[in-house]
Amino acid sequence: MVRLSEIASPKLSAEGERSFRWAEAHMGALTTLAADYVSSKALSGVKLGVCLHVTKETSVLVDALLEAGAEVTLAGANPLSTQDDIAAFLAERAEVHAWRGQTAKEYNSCIDKVLRTRPAQLIDDGGDLHVAAHEHKTRGIAGGSEETTTGVVRLRAMESEGLLAYPVIAVNDAKTKFMFDNRYGTGQSTLDGIMRATALLLAGRHIVVVGYGWVGKGVAMRARGMGAIVTVVEVDPVRALEAHLEGYDVTSIEKAATLGELFITATGQKDVIPYDAIELMRDGAILANAGHFDVEIDVATLLSRAKSVRETRPNVDEVALPRGKKVYLIGKGRIANLVAAEGHPPEVMQMSFANQFLAAVKIRREAKSLEPKVYGVSSEAEDEVARSALKSMGIAIGEQTGVQRKYAKSWKV
Ligand code: ADE
Repeated sequence: MVRLSEIASPKLSAEGERSFRWAEAHMGALTTLAADYVSSKALSGVKLGVCLHVTKETSVLVDALLEAGAEVTLAGANPLSTQDDIAAFLAERAEVHAWRGQTAKEYNSCIDKVLRTRPAQLIDDGGDLHVAAHEHKTRGIAGGSEETTTGVVRLRAMESEGLLAYPVIAVNDAKTKFMFDNRYGTGQSTLDGIMRATALLLAGRHIVVVGYGWVGKGVAMRARGMGAIVTVVEVDPVRALEAHLEGYDVTSIEKAATLGELFITATGQKDVIPYDAIELMRDGAILANAGHFDVEIDVATLLSRAKSVRETRPNVDEVALPRGKKVYLIGKGRIANLVAAEGHPPEVMQMSFANQFLAAVKIRREAKSLEPKVYGVSSEAEDEVARSALKSMGIAIGEQTGVQRKYAKSWKV
């Protein structure tokens, strides 16, 4: 079969395979859970269109999907997040349209190439593939799944406007996804990206975390764990209260701008660091984003007002402001953990991707009986993924007795 992949270099395949093996060895929850579906070829002949960050962890998911019988066409979920060795490794068995350093036009064209293969099912991270499928009115899609908060928000908006054309499983909304991936995954990998990019000390540094959802909680917790002084900016009153009782300093972006040395956005919202706040920051402030899209820091205004911009280290741009101060932007304001590091660790992604794998099987089996809606993940699937993850970590837990199960539902003491 001729495959029309577009990747940086096929020569990187052996390196990609080594990375794949390393991730696979740490993603037992996914591989064990997938084993039965692989033996029964549960996805036999299914054409899958996939838009995910092309990482070593994604290669383990793609491998499981291929082994279960699917045909996969893959695009990256961000112009800067593709690991080129992994793209080369996967291109030996799937059609891959992904390389690191794409323009916005190239990024969109790769998504279009996935849709041109006329997939029957989609797996997406961020919603761009689903949105493009709707804009192009791609026919024959039975259903799909979505990995991240931002993508689920977009799909729910489409659903409420009556535009959603097929059922989508919101993998992000599984407890075994958001409580672990969004919190512990992003918490670790965002700091990992910032540390790789800057090589600076976090202990004693004043870090401002903008947003206190699951991602913000993880980032704040890990920053504090590294000895940073942490301020949280949050506009939701309940979350702000939670951050306060967790012991963080909580304030507005205007106030935080004058205090912080390193700013990390984690909101899924636009312009949470507006240009005016950047003007208030101290000379040398560092800006990083942990959210899916590069809209959280007002990068467009920052660059349009800049006196100069130069790459001072890989993934660090020094931006000279009109009045003489300099700020440093990590990864062009794109998702720092995937641009400046390798994304979440495999032990976290094994849960997210076990949910993706089960969602693909569910769509294959049940799409006809589902409506064009956004669906959650069943509690059975949650338990299956959690048990598989515990097993992969060598943790054995007990069970409720029959008497306890009854007691839990009874009004009698
Ligand atoms: N999103 C965050 N981390 C990731 C990873 N390692 N692989 C794929 N998607 C991710």
